[in-house]
Amino acid sequence: MTSIETIHEAAEIIRTARYAVGFTGAGISVESGIQPFRGESGLWNEHDPIFVEIEYFRHKPLASWNKIKEVFYDSFDQARPNLAHEVLAKMEGRGFVESVITQNIDNLHQKAGSKYVYELHGTSRTLSCTECSSEYDLSFADLNFLPPTCFVCKGILKPDIVFFNEPIPHFPLKRSKEEAKKADVLLIIGTNAEVYPANEIPVIAKENEATIIEINIVKSEFTDTITDYFLEGKATEIMEEIGKYLYLI
Ligand code: APR
Repeated sequence: MTSIETIHEAAEIIRTARYAVGFTGAGISVESGIQPFRGESGLWNEHDPIFVEIEYFRHKPLASWNKIKEVFYDSFDQARPNLAHEVLAKMEGRGFVESVITQNIDNLHQKAGSKYVYELHGTSRTLSCTECSSEYDLSFADLNFLPPTCFVCKGILKPDIVFFNEPIPHFPLKRSKEEAKKADVLLIIGTNAEVYPANEIPVIAKENEATIIEINIVKSEFTDTITDYFLEGKATEIMEEIGKYLYLI
């Protein structure tokens, strides 16, 4: 793990930042029991991602929903925010961080108390009818009977997550680019940085002279290109040190 001195140096940069923004990927939720997509224990090593490809979903909704429930909903159901989510939420509460841009769909930032969360890849928290576009909170969908259907028109419900070959929702992408342009510090936690256009956001921050602080257990596509401080270690371990430095825990 990176030295405490280096972590404190990065924490001081966050403490004195004018406008710090968080940017997270699946790695921040690994210690909440949610598998990452890539790396040695990655989901895509075990499952063909076709089940979250939009045309596949339209043609085989039941097959798609069976995997979506197994891979996402069953694990999200048990997951609770970990210390990294909690410290990030406390940092927002104390004004050290303005917002969190996330690629995650697990809703753990919101459960930890983060208020300004921009979900680039949508959310598992709500579903929409593919016929009449009625919107449902997850608590109103019975996932014991798949595929879930709309109370209004009996159409098939789709989770509000961004499927492969679907566009990123306009609002979160627009706001994320605005946040990246305003940021003088970007705190990147647990992303492989492989997926476009999400991986464009930290580059925009860098182009606007932000200091890039990255937490990961291994180097990512960002580390040797845009990262200024690479804090090697688990999200909870590094964020615990940052939280202590900022007197949040
Ligand atoms: N602490 C910090 N980082 C971690 C930890 C941990 N405990 N465990 C894993 N990581 C890191 C991995 O080293 C990797 O760099 O988290 C990253 C996870 O990478 P991915 O699984 O590729 O997740 P992410 O970068 O968020 O993927 C982006 O790809 O498939 C799509 O839509 C999906 O949102 C996802 C997108």
